Amino acid sequence: MNLSRRLDKIPPYLFVEINRKIAEKKAKGEDIISFAIGDPDGETPSHIIERLCKEAHVPANHHYPETFGLPELCKAIAGWYKKRFNVDLDPAKEVLPLIGSKEGIGHMSFCLLDQGDIALVTDPGYPVYSISCLLAGGEVHYLPLNEESGFLPDLDAIPSDVLKKAKVLWISYPNNPTGAVADLHFFKKVVAFAQKSNIAVCHDAPYTEVAFDGYKPHSFLEVPGAKDVGVEFHSLSKTYNMTGWRIGMAVGNQKMVDALFRFKSNIDSGIPQAIQIAAIEALTGNQDEIAPRNNMYQARRDKIVNALKELGLKVTTPMAGFYIWAKVPQGFTSVSYVAELLDKAGVAVTPGTGYGKSGEGYVRLSITQSDDRLDEGIRRLLKLKKG
Ligand SMILES: Cc1ncc(COP(=O)(O)O)c(C=O)c1O
Repeated sequence: MNLSRRLDKIPPYLFVEINRKIAEKKAKGEDIISFAIGDPDGETPSHIIERLCKEAHVPANHHYPETFGLPELCKAIAGWYKKRFNVDLDPAKEVLPLIGSKEGIGHMSFCLLDQGDIALVTDPGYPVYSISCLLAGGEVHYLPLNEESGFLPDLDAIPSDVLKKAKVLWISYPNNPTGAVADLHFFKKVVAFAQKSNIAVCHDAPYTEVAFDGYKPHSFLEVPGAKDVGVEFHSLSKTYNMTGWRIGMAVGNQKMVDALFRFKSNIDSGIPQAIQIAAIEALTGNQDEIAPRNNMYQARRDKIVNALKELGLKVTTPMAGFYIWAKVPQGFTSVSYVAELLDKAGVAVTPGTGYGKSGEGYVRLSITQSDDRLDEGIRRLLKLKKG
């Protein structure tokens, strides 16, 4: 049997590799504390679970759902965007529920790119933007992100021959992995750039509801003209501790939303209807758990940042998201420092290079480990310092 050449283009998915290494250690009886993956440790709020249980008993929810999503869910998503960001969306044309935002991100590349077209992708970045581009037959032009420019890409530095072939720009703020945030000034620049260069924008924004110190992240769609050039991907995963349920959305430009629907409707059969109704409950119901949950994350962020500083790592305290992006000590690479922490402290973190070449010299730590385990992880890290 011969597999498609397409598959040769993709490296193993980053977390599969890391999980394999952790599993090997665990199989040997070692206790590994993982700061590697951004999956909330908390439970989905109980009113959402109760709604799902109730809806699971309703026979109408046992059948194939509509791929487009329940009209009531599209309305709930539009209502949430209006309330949270003051962004107007037509629920029938500018909202598409997804089986988690990763699904839509992966499929969007197939809607925008033909063979040889270029996707502009930030480096470091969430790997799905570039890998889906390669799978779709496109080529990636990486936009390096660095500390000096606040981990925002320099759009003026893109060569004109690249711009001619570029069809899409991927950005994501609050950012995974760097923890950087973007203001409306940056988003305005992006809209002007996209209009001038006739490039579609995909803004991936699953972390807007995980924010600290009173900071409120923006939606890209708040900027006038954004809907003319792009879509925003969002998710219930991080906002409502619903990573396991697989529900997210693409909202904004009607042509892009419609293209994604046309693509998806030939491949998947939609989101289980009971989960869609639970998502309506999440978006329209009580939001009281979000603020205390963010306070808890903030306290964890502070503990990790302080510990890393004590270890001699250079860190910027993130204002939003799940991640702390830390510079490894002199003499280490990203990968060798990950190995050092895993072998000497039994602590797993992710190498910056897993998110692109410009991630060299950094590691990423997530704040989604329970308080007990986080404290133990920090204790182990600090012990490393004492030798
Ligand atoms: C930047 C970014 N985008 C998208 C996703 C996917 O989220 P979802 O659970 O909605 O598929 C993740 C998950 O970690 C992420 O970090």
